[in-house]
Amino acid sequence: MTYFVQLGTESKVRLHLLRKAKEAEHWKANNGIDRIEIDASDLEGDPLIVSLVEHFQCKAHRRLSLFRFLPWTCHSWHVDLQRYAAINMLLEGWDSATLFGTRAAGVNLTNIQPLEYEPDRYYLLNSKCTHTIINYSRPRFLLSIGIPEQYSFKDVRDYIERTGA
Ligand SMILES: [Fe+2]
Repeated sequence: MTYFVQLGTESKVRLHLLRKAKEAEHWKANNGIDRIEIDASDLEGDPLIVSLVEHFQCKAHRRLSLFRFLPWTCHSWHVDLQRYAAINMLLEGWDSATLFGTRAAGVNLTNIQPLEYEPDRYYLLNSKCTHTIINYSRPRFLLSIGIPEQYSFKDVRDYIERTGA
């Protein structure tokens, strides 16, 4: 089972998005996580990602989000609703853990694998695999491009392999 894949694109927009997140005043709580919506134009320094957003109609489905996680918080192990895949980039908050695993009898979860975000890199996440986030001492800011649910994880992986995104 592939939990996640690092994309080839080295981002030019992380600091822009981080500034936007830090200046934002109107966060909305979304399943216990603070969220604001951004525009496709916020990603224009990363043209391959803009193409991907257009191809999968993410903006039309309002799936371009910045998320804020408060210090010393943890989310339960879960799979995402309403999406099979997401493309994430950690903006700040390296003092945190993102973990994937597989449900298993007896031990609860097996095959645990950490997603160790590198700066300025995008990751395609297999959102129907069980995962959690533990945030430690700092606020954590994340870009998440949700892929509308008519597309599978494989659809997106094939697309990024084809385009070099
Ligand atoms: Fe999730």
